[in-house]
Amino acid sequence: MDPITNGLMQKLAEAGQSHLLQFWKDLSHEEQADLAAELQGMDFQEINGFFKSAMETSSSSKHEKMDTRMEPVPREVLGSVTRDRECLKSWEAAGLHCISQSKVAALLLAGGQGTRLGVSYPKGMYDVGLPSHKTLFQIQAERILKLQQLAEQKHKIKCCIPWYIMTSGRTMESTKEFFSRHNYFGLDKNNVVFFQQGMLPAMDYKGKIILESKGKLSMAPDGNGGLYRALRNQGITYDMERRGIECIHVYCVDNILVKVADPAFVGFCVQKEADCGAKVVEKTNPTEAVGVVCKVDGHYQVVEYSEITLATAEKRSADGRLMFNAGNVANHFFSLSFLRDVVQKHEPRLQHHVAQKKIPYVDAQGRLIKPDKPNGIKMEKFVFDIFQFAKTFVVYEVLREDEFSPLKNADTQDGKDTPTTARHALMSLHHRWVLNAGGHFIDENGRRVPAIPSLKDGTDLPIKCEISPLVSYGGEGLEEFVKERDFHPTLMIDEHRVHELVKNGV
Ligand code: UTP
Repeated sequence: MDPITNGLMQKLAEAGQSHLLQFWKDLSHEEQADLAAELQGMDFQEINGFFKSAMETSSSSKHEKMDTRMEPVPREVLGSVTRDRECLKSWEAAGLHCISQSKVAALLLAGGQGTRLGVSYPKGMYDVGLPSHKTLFQIQAERILKLQQLAEQKHKIKCCIPWYIMTSGRTMESTKEFFSRHNYFGLDKNNVVFFQQGMLPAMDYKGKIILESKGKLSMAPDGNGGLYRALRNQGITYDMERRGIECIHVYCVDNILVKVADPAFVGFCVQKEADCGAKVVEKTNPTEAVGVVCKVDGHYQVVEYSEITLATAEKRSADGRLMFNAGNVANHFFSLSFLRDVVQKHEPRLQHHVAQKKIPYVDAQGRLIKPDKPNGIKMEKFVFDIFQFAKTFVVYEVLREDEFSPLKNADTQDGKDTPTTARHALMSLHHRWVLNAGGHFIDENGRRVPAIPSLKDGTDLPIKCEISPLVSYGGEGLEEFVKERDFHPTLMIDEHRVHELVKNGV
């Protein structure tokens, strides 16, 4: 071994990770150079420290349920699209005003691996099979374009919503290439900023880094809470400052219904002078495995279903709703000053969470083993871990059927959060928009389809209907296209015209 590798051997020995070089002699020169470069760039003391504290926190929290320390979100910090209808217009106007001043940015979390969906490319490039075949990235880009246009029309001033896109080592190149190939979907490329989150190695339960092949470590992105470290390391908060950004809407790539930079949510948070806000949907089923926003020991946080007892999950308030019903949908508002504080002061205090996983590894003989039960951990921070630092925290409740349908899993019969459920959720929302704007659908016999579909016919397939975000951001402005008109599905409305596609046709 050369002197560089000797140095490396010592570094690994001190960190208890010498096994990473066990197949050194079997590697080609190129593989050796790649492995040495990767190992040299890693801070093993830090990684070992993360492992130790993550394991300690995880084992102490295993034995302790949160129940007695939890309080629900108080009504005074809650805004609800159903319970505070009279305020909606004013929130939306406040948000649109901020957007018109170019003070609002969107920040997309797109660094995940999408293992459950099982495609080899970034999830944002996924086409769920809408009539237009638009990808998640395109839908979101077009919502931004439309929102800019709405703010400009209302305030007669040119504005932009910068779009920050967090990717990981695994998704950066393909994401950038996809945007460039599609000409940034009509957005100004200077207002689309890519940045990369960090990666951490997977480790076995003893803290040994796992090799996924003889010359390669098993690496994974450090969770969507890796956001804060990435923002700091890549100077992104300075970029926001330079552009005059004051509010940031952070959201996940996989929610097909996401209202990017939602003016009503932004306006609500701004009017409440909040530094941090969480959009939630009502949890109605006590056993639904969704994290809930609540207070623990006086500080806001998300408590996972596994951290409470069934009795607490089933508790109801006087109005009959679940007491802990603020279902987290990873859709957040941050003021830039709060984000700056988090990035500069609080980030190092955030603990990694432990996710036990089945991690493919090479055994002592160099054979690849795919375990059938968890054999190690991945360490992740979560984007909501920073709620605890907020001085003014607010919660904004929206309707699940209007705003939340995540794409997590591949299609299977009756599957949850699949391409089919995402496609149906979008089409059924757009169907409702058409009805609200005075349009109707007719079936193949020329009869009007009832607004509320009959359960008798046994189908719960939505009407095929898709409205381009370039035409309507949230259902507005559709009367001129649909009022008092009857349509045959499939209906598509884009910025050029209304199309009625013949069944099985185009
Ligand atoms: P999920 O936790 O659902 O993970 O991410 P995922 O990677 O999309 O899918 P699985 O678990 O591998 O099947 C929720 C959101 O957080 C982002 C994802 O891109 C998604 O928008 N995320 C997740 C990151 O940005 N970085 C991460 O390290 C993890």
